[in-house]
Amino acid sequence: TAKKLWGGRFTGETDPLMHKYNQSLSYDQRMWREDIDGSVVYAKALHAQGIITQQELDSIKEGLEEVGKEWDEGTFQVAPNDEDIHTANERRLVELIGDAGKKLHTGRSRNDQVATDGRLWTMRRLQVLRQDLRTFLRIACERSEQEVDALMPGFTHLQPAQTVRWSHWLLSHCAALQRDDERLRDMTPRVARLPLGSGALAGNPFGVDRQVMAEDLGFFDGVCPNSMDAVSDRDWVIEAIFCSSMIMTHLSRWAEDLIVYSTAQFGYVSMADAYSTGSSLMPQKKNPDALELLRGKAGRTLGSLAGILTVVKGTPTTYNKDLQEDKEMLFDVMDTVSDSVRIAIGVVSTMTIHPEKMVLGLSADMLATDLAEYLVRKGMPFRDTHHVAGEAVALAEKKGCGISDLTLEDLRSLSELFEEDVAEVWSFDRSAELRCTEGGTAKSSVLEQVAKLKAYLDEE
Ligand code: ARG
Repeated sequence: TAKKLWGGRFTGETDPLMHKYNQSLSYDQRMWREDIDGSVVYAKALHAQGIITQQELDSIKEGLEEVGKEWDEGTFQVAPNDEDIHTANERRLVELIGDAGKKLHTGRSRNDQVATDGRLWTMRRLQVLRQDLRTFLRIACERSEQEVDALMPGFTHLQPAQTVRWSHWLLSHCAALQRDDERLRDMTPRVARLPLGSGALAGNPFGVDRQVMAEDLGFFDGVCPNSMDAVSDRDWVIEAIFCSSMIMTHLSRWAEDLIVYSTAQFGYVSMADAYSTGSSLMPQKKNPDALELLRGKAGRTLGSLAGILTVVKGTPTTYNKDLQEDKEMLFDVMDTVSDSVRIAIGVVSTMTIHPEKMVLGLSADMLATDLAEYLVRKGMPFRDTHHVAGEAVALAEKKGCGISDLTLEDLRSLSELFEEDVAEVWSFDRSAELRCTEGGTAKSSVLEQVAKLKAYLDEE
C-alpha cells in the first residue's frame, strides 16, 4: 500500500478505525479549490526564492490545474491513504508530475495550509452570505414602503400594547439583521489575514514573501503577525459561527412572530404555498414549516457555537488535532445560515398581509396611554394621568364597554380636564401618527427608516 505522506518514521500500519477517525477528507474536500489556489501562490513564492525552477513551477501549476479539474468534474479518485484535502491534492500532484510535485511542500506545513484554506473558504462564503442578507433587507425594505399604511397591534409580552405600523414591525427585524450585516463586514478583515508562511509553528526558513502571497490570494488585511498564533488561531471560525448564530437567532425571532401572526386566531399574514406544508392526516392544515425550521435550525447553530468554543478552549498554543473539529461545525453552520437566509428571502417576498385582520386586533384599551397623554397635554403630571386612564379602563370594564364608549360625563367624573376634544383620542391612526420622532411608528418616521436602510444598502 502507498505510504502515508508522513510515513518515513513509521513501520506499523494505521488501525483502520484510526484512519477513519483521523481523516478529514470526507468533509474538507469542499475546500479543494482554496487548497489549490493556496498551493499555486505558495509555489510562486518558492520560485521567487529560487527553491524551485521556472520549469518546476510551470509543471506544478499545470499539475494543480489538472487536479482541480478532476475535483470539478468529479473524477478525482481518493486513495486509501489520503487523509485530508492537503495530502490528497499533493499525492495526486506527485502522481501527475513526479518529482517537482514533491518540492511544493517545502517549508510549508498542513498547519499553515489548513488555516489558509479555511480562511479563504470562509472569506468567500461570508461575501455570499452578506449578499443574501442584503437581498433580504432590500425586499423587506420595499415591502415596508409599499405596505406602510397597514396598522396592527404592537405587542409587549405578546399582549396587545400600542398601535404600530406593520412596516414598523418588519423594519424592526431589518434593524437587527442590518447589525448582523455590519458584524459580517467588520469581522471580514480579521479573516483576511494570511497564515501561509508560518510553517508548522516557527515560521518559514526559505524567506517566502508573505505579503505578496497575501495580495495574490486576496487576503486584503495582510498577514498573521505571529506564526505560532497563525496556526493556533480559530477566532475566525468562532466569529463566523457566532455571526451566523446571531443571524439565525434574529431570523428565529422573526419567524416566531410570523408563526403567531399566521395562525387562524390572528390571521395577519398568510404564507405562500411554496413555504408551507400540509398534514398527512388533517386535510385543512397549512403549516408554516419554513418558519418553524428557521426557528429550529437556530438551535442547531447555537449548538455549534458552544461546540467550537469548547473545542478550542483547552488546547495548548499552536496546532493540535482537536482543531480539525472546527470544519464540520463551520461548514454546517455556513450551509445552514445561507439556506436559512434564502428561505427567509422566499418567505418575505411571497407572504401576503391582511390589514383588515390586523385592524380587528386593535382594541380601544390600546389607546389608554393616549388617553393619559391627552391629560398630559392639558397640564396634568403624567403619573397622575396614568392613574386616571387606569380608572377609565376599570370603569369601562365595570360598565361592560370599551374605554372609547365611555361618555364625556363618565370621563369627567374621573377628571375635570376632559373636554369634547377627547373624542379625537379614539383613533388608532392618530395614535400612530403622534409618534413621529426618529424611529417611531408615524408614517413619516417609518418612511425615514426605509430611506436610511436603503441608503445603507446602496452604500457598499
Ligand atoms: N486535516 C487537518 C485539519 O483539518 C490538517 C492539519 C493537519 N496537521 C497536522 N499536523 N496533523 O486540521
